[in-house]
Amino acid sequence: MTVERILILDDELVIRKALEEQLRRKRLSVCSVSNLSEAEKHIQKDEFDLLFVDVHLPDGNGTELLDRIATMQDPPLVVIITGNGTVESAVECMRAGAFDYIIKPFSSSQIDVLMKKAKDYRQLVKVNQFFAKESVEGAELIGKSVPIENLRSMVGKVAPTEATVLINGENGTGKELVASELYRRSSRRKAPFIKVNCAAISESLIESEFFGHEKGAFTGAIQRREGRFELADGGTILLDEISEISPKVQAKLLRVLQEREFERVGGNKTIKVDVRVVATTNRDLMKSVERGDFRQDLYYRLNVFPIHVPPLRERQGDVLLLAKTFAQKFARKHGITLRGFEEAASRSLSSHPWPGNVRELQNTIERAVILSESGLKISADSLGLMPVMANVNVPAFRETVATPEPVGVGAGSTGYGGSNQVGFPPSTPTSSSTFSSESSVPDFGDEPLPLEQIEKQHILSTLETTKGNRTHAAKILGISIRTLRNKLAIYREDGEFIAGEE
Ligand SMILES: Nc1ncnc2c1ncn2[C@@H]1O[C@H](COP(=O)(O)OP(=O)(O)OP(=O)(O)O)[C@@H](O)[C@H]1O
Ligand SMILES: [Mg+2]
Repeated sequence: MTVERILILDDELVIRKALEEQLRRKRLSVCSVSNLSEAEKHIQKDEFDLLFVDVHLPDGNGTELLDRIATMQDPPLVVIITGNGTVESAVECMRAGAFDYIIKPFSSSQIDVLMKKAKDYRQLVKVNQFFAKESVEGAELIGKSVPIENLRSMVGKVAPTEATVLINGENGTGKELVASELYRRSSRRKAPFIKVNCAAISESLIESEFFGHEKGAFTGAIQRREGRFELADGGTILLDEISEISPKVQAKLLRVLQEREFERVGGNKTIKVDVRVVATTNRDLMKSVERGDFRQDLYYRLNVFPIHVPPLRERQGDVLLLAKTFAQKFARKHGITLRGFEEAASRSLSSHPWPGNVRELQNTIERAVILSESGLKISADSLGLMPVMANVNVPAFRETVATPEPVGVGAGSTGYGGSNQVGFPPSTPTSSSTFSSESSVPDFGDEPLPLEQIEKQHILSTLETTKGNRTHAAKILGISIRTLRNKLAIYREDGEFIAGEE
């Protein structure tokens, strides 16, 4: 709930009592005072979400509080209580930043309406703050192949329902995009869509990220904070890369899925939410259950309606359509006029196995657009794709969904995978413009090495390139910081030197 602590400031006892009673019935926490100085004291030491403020008070004007709270980081909403004769000053208060006003005498239904309005408003503010940091993927799901048409029809069927959806698929196939599409086609499309990347948030923070925390719940919790489940109330929450959460959080999540209720970290008040849950995973969660890494009961709660996003190699027919759309998009972005693809470029695109799926294709095209000359066609050279080796079994390399650990360091993002699995430099420096194949790909020599070995060398040398900066290294490698951390722990046990560590 976004409005739960309320201060009432009015010198008329009957008004205070009436308001107090009504708000307490709603199980809100209410503090009520009769003069300005007392109100100031409370505001200084407690956090409030909403203040009811009378204008004429024995020790001053209630409007003085507006200036006082204007400087606060997360100011409460102010509702001015006014008599008929002072409506003008209430309007003045609105200009000065009050949220609303009510005229005495007021009815309980007026308060109900006002409280609902305040709650919606606070939620909107919180959601906006959240979106200022993280934007929802707005792209459209492109593709005319049979697998994509099937996917689209599944999304269309399940979107309007309230069913929990579990989206699985390899890295870069478009799971997040499918989740956005689900949301856009759901009846909750006007309500919030809140995303949590479970792999990107450290284990110690994820609980508070999900469920929020009370002031003082842990060091650094300087004020109460709503979690993402609360922000998503009435809407949809996307639990991205759900396989990455710890057993403790899994247990808490199970309760939310079963009962739609939880407590904030450090709090004992039970919060109820109405949230539709969509989750994604690039691991085979059933395998994680078998290994004991993921709770079976949680798996079944999530897997109500599974959607599989097929890898790009299984919908090769869409490659050129996607490439064309991306080329147009990036040509606009970089201010270049292009005339499509050369014949050899189209051939090269169609025959590439796309181990990194749509993300790899997108990055390849952006790079090619940048390298292309305005007014000309995109050449095969500018795509920089390696010719495919006939004897390499690509799907076997990329069976990420059925594989315990994602193979090949987020294969697509680093350009590894497919035909390049042994001894080849990455086909495309896809994941970041700062990634340079010369600087970060180790020289593997002539002898083909086991994939695990190549992965280890590559991870360690990338970490060296970033001078031990793990966040940066994980970004370049296209893996989550958590996956990187887990891998480094194994290498440490092997006695490897890890850049950035003593
Ligand atoms: N069918 C599609 N049409 C248009 N764009 C797509 C399509 N599929 C994926 N993309 C684009 O490719 C990129 C990767 O997609 P997305 O992030 O949804 O993949 P993902 O499966 O969630 O990847 P990861 O497992 O690495 O998180 C995004 O920029 C997305 O917009
Ligand atoms: Mg994703």
